[in-house]
Amino acid sequence: MAVSGFSAEWLALREPYDLTARAEAAAALDLRGMATRMRRGARPLEVLDLACGTGANLRALAPRLGDAQRWLLVDNDPQLLAALPGVFAAWSRAQGFVLRADAEGLHLEGPDWHADVRWLRADLVSALDDLPFANMQLVTAAALLDLVSASWLDALFERVRRTNAAMFFALSVDGRVQWDPAVEGDEIVRQLFTAHQRRDKGFGVALGGQAPAMASARLAALGYGVAQACSNWLIEEPAMLQAMIDGMSSAALEQGPDTQALVRAWRAWRGMSTTRSRMHVGHVDLLALP
Ligand SMILES: C[S@@+](CC[C@H](N)C(=O)[O-])C[C@H]1O[C@@H](n2cnc3c(N)ncnc32)[C@H](O)[C@@H]1O
Repeated sequence: MAVSGFSAEWLALREPYDLTARAEAAAALDLRGMATRMRRGARPLEVLDLACGTGANLRALAPRLGDAQRWLLVDNDPQLLAALPGVFAAWSRAQGFVLRADAEGLHLEGPDWHADVRWLRADLVSALDDLPFANMQLVTAAALLDLVSASWLDALFERVRRTNAAMFFALSVDGRVQWDPAVEGDEIVRQLFTAHQRRDKGFGVALGGQAPAMASARLAALGYGVAQACSNWLIEEPAMLQAMIDGMSSAALEQGPDTQALVRAWRAWRGMSTTRSRMHVGHVDLLALP
């Protein structure tokens, strides 16, 4: 399964790791305080989720924000958007939440929060100006910032700044990958993998592991109050370790064709050792208040 892809299967495989990692970061960031501050009176908090995939960001964030919310989820992949009702229905059942569907979208109800959820198919590169930033109090995204370029990020921040909305970006990779036990080849594969992450994903040269530092510096320069917390993955299960090994070695082979022998040997050894290994992948969650 491709670690750098956006398939529903990969997003489902990573979601439990994301949830655990985000819980750790959320303990250090006052997300509910931010929501209370941004809310206009008794009206629902208006949230725009960029690159929503199958809605994992809402599932992690809505219960933490509390009270009434209205979400607009945006992605350009029609298959991921089509999966939203089914994924939210399964999640609501598992969590004991109420879910109602109507012609407009979904209504979700938890113990101390409820959310109207709509979605929109849009390309964040060509249609950024079509998005309804003006109505929003929170603009958020998960696992997006490392895919975008510095110039796209500046364009986004400029649009959000005009509306005085808060921003919350979860799960941006920061380039750290650590294996236990460590073996020869780990560092060269990490370097090739992180170089591969900088390839253009449609937004210009991708920020990759530089995304958290770059975003935080740019937001501070715009006058935002910025808080960050680590949302690292700790991976111990063989299936997820294997997905990481496959994804990292494919990227490394594409990035460094002259290191084929070393990368193939690394993949073979790591593949045989998944029951005796674990890895950390560094991520950062970033909250910016106007
Ligand atoms: C790594 S996934 C993250 C999905 C989701 N936020 C999550 O945390 O599971 C990146 C998402 O970006 C979306 N994406 C990539 N390029 C896009 C574009 N140009 N416009 C809109 N969405 C895009 C993909 O379809 C995918 O859903």
